Amino acid sequence: MKKGNMLIKNASQLVTCSGSKAKCGEEMKNLHTIENGALVIEDGIIKAVNTTQEILKIYNEEDYEVIDASNKCVLPGFVDSHTHFIFGGYRADEFAWRLRGDSYMDIMERGGGIQNTVNATKNASYEELYNVGFERLNDMMRLGVTTVEGKSGYGLDFDTEIKQLKVMKSLNEEHAMDVVTTFLGAHSVPPEYKGKNNEYIDFIIKKVLPVIKDENLAEFCDVFCEDKVFSVAESRKLLSKAKEMGFKLKLHADEIVTLGGAELAAEVGAISADHLLHASDEGIKAMAEKKVITTLLPCTAFCLKEPYARAREIIDSGCAVALATDFNPGSCFTYSIPLVFGVAAIYMKMSMEEAITALTINGAAAVGRADSIGSIDPGKKGDIIILKYPSYNFIPYNTGINIVEKVIKNGNLVVNV
Ligand code: NIG
Ligand code: FE
Repeated sequence: MKKGNMLIKNASQLVTCSGSKAKCGEEMKNLHTIENGALVIEDGIIKAVNTTQEILKIYNEEDYEVIDASNKCVLPGFVDSHTHFIFGGYRADEFAWRLRGDSYMDIMERGGGIQNTVNATKNASYEELYNVGFERLNDMMRLGVTTVEGKSGYGLDFDTEIKQLKVMKSLNEEHAMDVVTTFLGAHSVPPEYKGKNNEYIDFIIKKVLPVIKDENLAEFCDVFCEDKVFSVAESRKLLSKAKEMGFKLKLHADEIVTLGGAELAAEVGAISADHLLHASDEGIKAMAEKKVITTLLPCTAFCLKEPYARAREIIDSGCAVALATDFNPGSCFTYSIPLVFGVAAIYMKMSMEEAITALTINGAAAVGRADSIGSIDPGKKGDIIILKYPSYNFIPYNTGINIVEKVIKNGNLVVNV
C-alpha cells in the first residue's frame, strides 16, 4: 500500500464543509454532510468524496489503507488560525494575580505581561524553543488540529524575532503539522524604545521586514493595535508598508478597548481581524463589506473574564467568522479546541454548524489556504479527523473533553487513540 493512500468508508456522518473560500453570514451553517459517507485519498490528496456505496463501485479497497468509520463522524482537520505557541518560560504567577483582581493591562504596564515572556524567550536557545514547540504541536494534533498559525512577537529585537520564526519554519518542515508563520514584531514596545513607538515601527520596517521577506520566514504581518500599545496610525503605517512588501495582514484588533482596529483591518485589506471583543458597529459593517475574516478567540475572553465578542451580530451582519485558540503564555494558556467549541456554542450564540465552519474552512481562509485545506473536497489535502461518536452534536456535549479518535494528515494516520 502506498503511503498517503487511504480509503475511509461507512462514516455515519461525513461533514465535508465543502467550499474553497470563507463562508459569510448565513452560509456558515451549510456543512454539506453525507450520510454513510466515504472518501478516497491518493498521494496525500483527496481524490473522491461520496456515499460509501458509490465510492466502492469505483475504488478497490485493496489499493488503500482502509478505515471503517461506522458509527463515527468524519470532519476536515481543524485549523487553529491564531496562536502564539513559540515562547520561553511561563506566567503562572501573573495568572494568580489576575485571579486576585489585577487586570491584564495593569500587569503589562508594570513591566510584566508580554515583556516577561520576551525576557524568557531571549534567554531560551533555539533548541529549547524547538523542542517545546514540537511537543505543543503533538498535543494540538491529538485535539484534531492539522494546520496551526504561529506568531513571533516575544523577541522585539532582530535576533529573537528571527529565532522564533526560524523555529516555526523548521517545525513546519519537520513536524507533521502544517505551521503558517506570522511576524508580530509590533506586539509591544520594547523598553529601549519606550515612548518612541514610531522609531520602533521604523526599525521594524527598515531592518526586520526586509530580512523576513528575503528569507521567506513569515507569510503574514500582524500588530497589537491597542490603547497604550500601538495606535491606529502606527498600526496603519506598519501594515501598509508590510502589504507593499508582499505580506498578508492580520491585526489584534479592539481586544481591550474600542479603538478602531476593525475599521483599520477593512481599510488596509487585512485577511483577518482578531479578538474584536469591543469592535464597533461601524467596524463590523466595514469588515463585512471588505470581507475581512473576523477571528474570534473565545478562550481569551474566558480566561480574562471579559465579555465575549458579539459573534451572533457579527455573523448576522454578513461576516465570515473563524474561531481559534489564541494559545499564548499570558492571556490564554490553552490550545483546547473542545473549550473553544464549548464556549462558542454555549455562550456566544454560535450554532454547532457555525462553530464547525469557523474551525475548518473559515480558519483555512484566515491563513490564506481555503483552496487547499479546511474542507473534504477533491483536490484538497487529505487532512481528516474521525470522532469517537456518530455526529458532531457530540462535540460541545462532551464539554471540554477531546473526542477525536483518529487524525489523518496528508493521507497518513498520525493519531490513533
Ligand atoms: O492575543 N493581546 C496580545 N497578544 C496576546 C497575548 C500575549 C501575551 O500576553 O503574552 C493575545 O491575547
Ligand atoms: Fe493573540
